[in-house]
Amino acid sequence: MRIAMIGAGYVGLVSGACFAQFGHDVVCVDKEADKIARLRRGEIPIYEPGLEKLVADNVRSGRLEFGSNLGDAVGNADAVFIAVGTPTRRGDGHADLSYVYAAAAEIAEAIRGYTVVVTKSTVPVGTGREVARIIREAQPSGEFDVAANPEFLREGAAIEDFMKPDRVVIGVESQRARDVMAAIYRPLNLIQTPMVFTNIETAEVTKYAGNAFLATKITFINEIADLCEKVGADVHDVARGIGLDGRIGRKFLHPGPGFGGSCFPKDTLALAYTAREANAPQTIVEQVIEVNNSRKKRMAQKVVEFSGGSVKGLKIAVLGLTFKPDTDDMRDAPSLDIVPALQAAGATIVAFDPAGMAEAARLLPGIGFAKTAYEAASGADVLVVITEWHEFRGLDPRRIKEAMRQPRIVDLRNIFDPEEMRGLGFAYEGIGRPRPRT
Ligand code: NAD
Ligand code: UGA
Repeated sequence: MRIAMIGAGYVGLVSGACFAQFGHDVVCVDKEADKIARLRRGEIPIYEPGLEKLVADNVRSGRLEFGSNLGDAVGNADAVFIAVGTPTRRGDGHADLSYVYAAAAEIAEAIRGYTVVVTKSTVPVGTGREVARIIREAQPSGEFDVAANPEFLREGAAIEDFMKPDRVVIGVESQRARDVMAAIYRPLNLIQTPMVFTNIETAEVTKYAGNAFLATKITFINEIADLCEKVGADVHDVARGIGLDGRIGRKFLHPGPGFGGSCFPKDTLALAYTAREANAPQTIVEQVIEVNNSRKKRMAQKVVEFSGGSVKGLKIAVLGLTFKPDTDDMRDAPSLDIVPALQAAGATIVAFDPAGMAEAARLLPGIGFAKTAYEAASGADVLVVITEWHEFRGLDPRRIKEAMRQPRIVDLRNIFDPEEMRGLGFAYEGIGRPRPRT
């Protein structure tokens, strides 16, 4: 199959490279000329483990190309995937569909011969129909179908998620489009990946329902963690105790400072908006949004209380700034709430993040950056773990203690063992773990 991928961001680039790996001929197009120039030079604009090699292998094999000319890519394609951003719209919290519709209008001008136009971006219900209308208006006799094929990959594990997904959801409404989509995903069908064919609206709702459910699960365990802290229980044991029940499942029960990222925050907001418009309010999701927002804000207060009621004049070392490990993505990261609140309370911040510091320098003015975790800890009065990068788990606590002015750790991801840390002489506070009895 010949595929045009419109948008070479996290989803477009990963999906494009993976489709090429499946054996298809893929052209990724992006309107950011600089991004395309870098990709052509073999530079990967995002941090995603394994992506550089996957892209290089497929470029070398001639199956993957990068271009700025959307018209050429679309004109030659059997399927065109729209993988542009759908950020939160200013003012009302709904998804901003302007990039999707702009892409649809450009695609409409370029289609030649039968083409399936697929939304891979996360789009509110009704968007697929609107994309079809835009194309039909521009090409009344054009031969095309629309399809909805939401993407479920996670940043940091994107290739594995794409190559071995739990399922593929495809909204299509003609046999011809279904055949094209089935041919594209044939390699996954061969490894028995469940293929869920639905109508277009169902596929669109499925994506939001999935993200909202996961966001709810995280928020649930976060509130249980709050309870555990008050009553001397350990949230990890609770999560294991409930998660071993197959109906609940163990994944996404890791407590933390609140979910962030480019998707859960914006997608829960957009779902709540869609549902209110449809007169079927999602009150659980609305609560999740509110609880998560206030949690992120409350985390700075947790650090202040742990520090004896004030952080004025203190040096705070922050480990991890990105919204999760293995990505350089800072979108809606909890650090964006926590760090400014600590600065406002009078603390000086020195941070270390393995991949996010370039972006953080833009978003978090006034903080210092260290080259290593130990350097960040040097002379610090408190160390706060915000993101659970794997390398932080391997830090030598003794070296950290020697480097710090006062050995105090607030571990918002529970990467350290509380008893071990306290045994080494740290004042230590995690999330949802019993405090030492006094
Ligand atoms: P992104 O911002 O990283 O990338 C979007 C790209 O599209 C940008 O490079 C932009 O320049 C390009 N673009 C916009 N309009 C264009 C046009 N008309 N022509 C060509 N290029 C254009 O976004 P992303 O994180 O890849 O997300 C894309 C969509 O996928 C969103 O709807 C998101 O919700 C969804 N999604 C994201 C993830 C994720 O992990 N990031 C996972 C699943 C789904
Ligand atoms: C999420 C979903 O997991 C993907 O399936 C989906 O495709 C994607 O959104 C999307 O629609 O874009 P992602 O945002 O990359 O993927 O990352 P997650 O691993 O889901 O983490 C999201 C946030 O939840 C992070 O801030 C993370 O720290 C937090 N989280 C996750 C927890 O606090 N606890 C957990 O147990 C899991």
